[in-house]
Amino acid sequence: MKKCRIGILTGGGDCAGLNPAIKWVVKTALDDRLQRERGVQYEVLGIRDGWKGLVYADPTNPDSLKEYTVPLDQELVRTWDRYGGTMLGTSRTNPYDPKNDRSKTVLSNVDKLDLKVVIALGGEDTLGVAYKLSQEGVNVVGIPKTIDKDLPGTDYTLGFETALNVITEEVDRLRTTAGSHKRIFVVETMGRHAGWLALEGGESSGAFIILIPEYDFSIEKVNELVLEGKIKGNRYDIIVIAEGAKPAGGTQFVTRKGGDSFGHEILGGIGEVLANEIQDATKLETRSIVLSHLQRGGSPCAYDRRMGRYFGIAAVDLVVKKDFGKMVSYRNGEITAVLLKEVSGKLRLVDVKTQYDTERYNGRRTILR
Ligand code: F6P
Repeated sequence: MKKCRIGILTGGGDCAGLNPAIKWVVKTALDDRLQRERGVQYEVLGIRDGWKGLVYADPTNPDSLKEYTVPLDQELVRTWDRYGGTMLGTSRTNPYDPKNDRSKTVLSNVDKLDLKVVIALGGEDTLGVAYKLSQEGVNVVGIPKTIDKDLPGTDYTLGFETALNVITEEVDRLRTTAGSHKRIFVVETMGRHAGWLALEGGESSGAFIILIPEYDFSIEKVNELVLEGKIKGNRYDIIVIAEGAKPAGGTQFVTRKGGDSFGHEILGGIGEVLANEIQDATKLETRSIVLSHLQRGGSPCAYDRRMGRYFGIAAVDLVVKKDFGKMVSYRNGEITAVLLKEVSGKLRLVDVKTQYDTERYNGRRTILR
């Protein structure tokens, strides 16, 4: 039987849903019956720490090989779909960093490791690297993941539903204490430049106000809405704000300047600023909380386990068909695939016109038009 070694890695921010996808890549590729039918004996090599693993996994150096690779088999991954994070580890290493371009080392290591295909699980950055490598002749397949759900070409990215569940659970917890003290709580979510987490997290948890990066808000308007709510009898309010949201005429709040090797700055801090503004203007006691990395933690919810499974299986289907340079995707209720070229360098953002109510600063109240 022909042989084919697949490398698999996870890059960028971790999230729930990565391990289920890895498990199903391994189980599908190594399945005896499928291998016989396909006439190919697959092998799956886990690459540790994202693209960093392919920078350092040099087969001529046994120590680096041990540190950055792990052969995966069905027994090893059997229970992985229950766990959050990524068993392969991750990093934000960019082999094409203009200040330190190590792409040639990656290309050489792909060759030396005899990887006929690399399956990359990631968001815009990781899949952007995958696309560049595919242009240089590497056979790549992408699997979409990011709690930000901001990748074009797919309606779902792994990790998003689990993160929504975290937001909903945490807001439920806040409600009891907010109500007991008659306080307003501003809850800051992640999401970078996309408002999906704040919007759908706010909708799921029934937030009074939702503020997203796609629509600059007016602080005066937020205060008016809060005071109106008070007159109508609100004992307390929950305001969900995306880390990337900003007041009209202002700029995004950055907690750490400088950026990573992909040029991203760490956003955050708008929640606390808004809480102080509301308290000063309305004289209502207002606190803020940053959900931060809690949104990426915990075990995958049922949806992420299932989508991880489907994406993992579909990724192997692409490998079998030698249909490279693509990302598996979920579109209009179906698992399908799109060209990495169509995913690279763009973001999928909330459509304010159809998905956001700019009067109430909340989710839409008309769905069927
Ligand atoms: O892209 C996922 C994400 O969680 C963003 O929502 C957030 O802005 C960023 O990663 C945080 O990155 P880090 O884990 O490097 O602090």
